Amino acid sequence: MTLALPSHVECLACVLCGLQTRDPWCWTCPDCGPAGRMDVRYADAPLLNMTKHLASRPRDQWRYREVLPFTDDALLPPVQVGWTPVSRAPRLAEWLGVREAVVKDDGRNPSASLKDRASAVGVVLALQAGSERIACASTGNAASSTACIAASMGLPATIFVPHRAPAPKVAQLLIFGAQVVRVQADYDTTWELCAAVTAQQPWFDRNCAVNPYLVEGKKTVSLELAEQLGQDMPDWVAVSVGDGCTVAGVVKGLEEAARAGLIRSVPRVLAVQAEGAAPLVQAAKTGLFEPGPAQSIADSICVGTPRNPHKALQAVARCDGAWIAVSDASILEALVEVPRRSGVFGEPAGIAGAAGVRAAVQAGIIDAGASVALLVTGNGLKDTATALQVAGSPIDVEPSVDAVLTALA
Ligand SMILES: Cc1ncc(COP(=O)(O)O)c(C=O)c1O
Ligand SMILES: [Zn+2]
Repeated sequence: MTLALPSHVECLACVLCGLQTRDPWCWTCPDCGPAGRMDVRYADAPLLNMTKHLASRPRDQWRYREVLPFTDDALLPPVQVGWTPVSRAPRLAEWLGVREAVVKDDGRNPSASLKDRASAVGVVLALQAGSERIACASTGNAASSTACIAASMGLPATIFVPHRAPAPKVAQLLIFGAQVVRVQADYDTTWELCAAVTAQQPWFDRNCAVNPYLVEGKKTVSLELAEQLGQDMPDWVAVSVGDGCTVAGVVKGLEEAARAGLIRSVPRVLAVQAEGAAPLVQAAKTGLFEPGPAQSIADSICVGTPRNPHKALQAVARCDGAWIAVSDASILEALVEVPRRSGVFGEPAGIAGAAGVRAAVQAGIIDAGASVALLVTGNGLKDTATALQVAGSPIDVEPSVDAVLTALA
C-alpha cells in the first residue's frame, strides 16, 4: 500500500516523546510503543493564510485543506460531510444554568454522526493507499459512517461491532453493504479482535485511536464552529468522550482556528464521560489511567479502555478545560430536555455533553455567566429504544372525533 505525506504536512509527531517522522505508516512511536500515538503536524504558513481562501470554497469539511493530510480532490466522497448547522438555544441555556447556549447538530452528517468527518478522511486515504478494503471496530457510529462513506466511493468495508450495538446502527451497516462482524463481547474486546485481524490483512485500518489521520477529520467540527460563530465563539465547548479521539480533535481544531485568525482565543473544552465508563475523568483527577469494565446506556461512549488517553488528556489540559462524569439518569434527563428546548434530537452519547454542562455549572466549574457550545455528536434516531424509555407515550384512540376529545379532556 502506498501513501505519501503532502508538502504542507511537516511530520507525524509522538504525543509522548515528541519523536518526529515523515514515514506515513509510522502510526505508533518506535520508542514509546503503542501508547505513543502519533499526531499530524502542519507547516505554519498555509494555515496562517487559510482564511483568505475560505470564501471561494464549498461549504463542507474539505474547505480546511491547509490542515488536512492529503491534496487529491479526485478522491473526495460525493456525499456532503460537515458544515452542519449551529443554532441558538436560549431555553436550553436556562436549563443548563448558563447565560447562552448554541447547539451544533453533527447528527446532520451523511450517516447521522460526527464520525463521518473521520471516516471520510479514512476512506480518502484508503483509496490513496490503494487498499482493497477499509476496516474498523466501533461502538456503532464509526462503523455506520465508515460503511456509508465507503459505499459512496465503492470501497469494500469490514466492520466489527459489539453485540450490544443498537439495531438502527447495525441496520445502517447492512444497508450500506458492509461486511459486518458482530462480536459476542463488549466494545473493548471487539476493538482488540479487529486490530488483530486487520494486522494480518491488506486492509486500511480506520480505527481512529491508532490511525493518526482520522482525528484530522474530527477537528473540522471546531474549525466550522469557529467560522460559523467567529468572535461570538462561546467560552466553553462541551463534548462527550469514549476513546478520546473526538475531544482531542475538538481541541486541535479550536487551536488551529485560533492560529488561522478565525477566533480570538481557544475556548475551554468540557470533556464528558458516563459515570460507568469514566477512566479518563479519573485519570485527569488522579494522574492514574486505570481501564476497567464499562456500563452506560450511552452505548457510543460505553468504553472501559479508551484507546487515545494521552491525546485526550493532553488536549483538554492545553485549553484549560475540565473533565466531568455524569450519571445515566442525568443523560436520560438531557435526552428529553435538549430536544424539547432546542429542536435538536441527539442519541444518548450525542447529548451527554449537555448533562455534563449542567453538572459542571452545579459544581462551580462553569460560571452561570458563561456561554456554551454543545456538540451534538450523533442523531437521536440512532437509538430510539432508549429515547422511548423517557419520551412518554402516544394517546391511543379509536378513529372518532368523540374518542379524541374524550381522550384529550
Ligand atoms: C455519538 C458519539 N458521541 C461521542 C463519541 C465519543 O468519541 P470518542 O470515542 O472519539 O471519544 C462517539 C464515539 O463513538 C459517538 O459515537
Ligand atoms: Zn514516543
